Amino acid sequence: MSVIAPATSPIDLANLEPIFESQSLMGRGSLISVLQAAQTTYGYLPNPVLEAIAKRTKTPISQIYGVITFYSQFKLSPRGKHVIRACQGTACHVRNSSLVLETLKSTLGVLPGSTTSDLMFTLETVACIGACSLAPVMMVDNEAHGRLRPERIPEILDKYRG
Ligand code: FES
Repeated sequence: MSVIAPATSPIDLANLEPIFESQSLMGRGSLISVLQAAQTTYGYLPNPVLEAIAKRTKTPISQIYGVITFYSQFKLSPRGKHVIRACQGTACHVRNSSLVLETLKSTLGVLPGSTTSDLMFTLETVACIGACSLAPVMMVDNEAHGRLRPERIPEILDKYRG
């Protein structure tokens, strides 16, 4: 079972220069802005990028990791083209969301919090996505799939692969 996809292309740190030039590098607020812009550029925050940001902003790397782990928006591993959020809230749980999640894990070959090796899907779990009447539910990007039956999952995922 593959867990986390390796980075497949070299990281071009030159892409950070326009970000540094557009930000005034002072204070925590600008550090967050730089991290957000870097994540938009690279899709996630690889370690060489964090080291370059630490050097340029004269911020200890430990402080940067502190910011990243505080804000859930920041990702330290590559994200898939599509993000699947499998609801594990109470309403979904009583309607067999655990079987839906098991089917997602076995179909994709990844654990929650991980990305497929082809960088197509990232699998996550959530507590409730506010569509309890459709339980069990999963979101793929911004699209809800409700009243899910595990046997439908491969067909649903194939639509996103296309
Ligand atoms: S518990 Fe799953 S949508 Fe609310």
